[in-house]
Amino acid sequence: MAIQAIIFDAYGTLFDVYSIAALAEKRFPGQGDALATLWRDKQIEYTRLRTMCSMYKPFWEVTQDALVFSCKKLGLALDFDAQHALMAQYAKLPPFPENLSVLEQLRVQGFKLAILSNGNPQMLEAVVKAAGLQATFQHLLSVDSVRKFKTAPEAYQLGTDMFGIPAKNILFVSSNCWDVCGAAWFGYTTFWVNRAGAPLEELGVAPHAEGRSLTDLLAFAALDRGAS
Ligand code: LAC
Repeated sequence: MAIQAIIFDAYGTLFDVYSIAALAEKRFPGQGDALATLWRDKQIEYTRLRTMCSMYKPFWEVTQDALVFSCKKLGLALDFDAQHALMAQYAKLPPFPENLSVLEQLRVQGFKLAILSNGNPQMLEAVVKAAGLQATFQHLLSVDSVRKFKTAPEAYQLGTDMFGIPAKNILFVSSNCWDVCGAAWFGYTTFWVNRAGAPLEELGVAPHAEGRSLTDLLAFAALDRGAS
């Protein structure tokens, strides 16, 4: 396989977007999970609509728009204070528990590591800093520079352009199945962190490997090292 670099999706893969449900629950008792789920779904839906119609705006703003819509849809009164608190929490979403150790092991094994995310540079820098991961990644690649969200090929191309390595020699890791499918279509070798045990999307494409947490990635990476 000869994997030389590993590119990670950020939100949902490295950082737990659904952890926001706890704060949402405090603000809107009984509605925390519903808000976290709808907020995420709307956020991704808006990225697709905006990319399809060439109406890009930064992911931070898209995320805010999705929050406002989701609260309206669920009948929740989102005042300035609640909006500010939820967005502030989004800026420092915690990493999944296993991630720091796995990333460090991969880095020590000599893999070049990067993030390629829909997030705009400021929000990526903030969330990486909050997690103490500044020294882990060689590059934080944001689709902001091409003004198209994943799954646009131009977004995935940021990774191959930055590393100067063919896509098949780069492992693209995401917990979002649609993202893994988009990356596989682009030509990356792909690993799906299927945290929720979800079924594969019916898109006629499959990830090269799959696990339940980032820890499972270590075995896959070791296999590659053994083969090369
Ligand atoms: C990202 C979102 C899609 O980080 O999870 O790109």
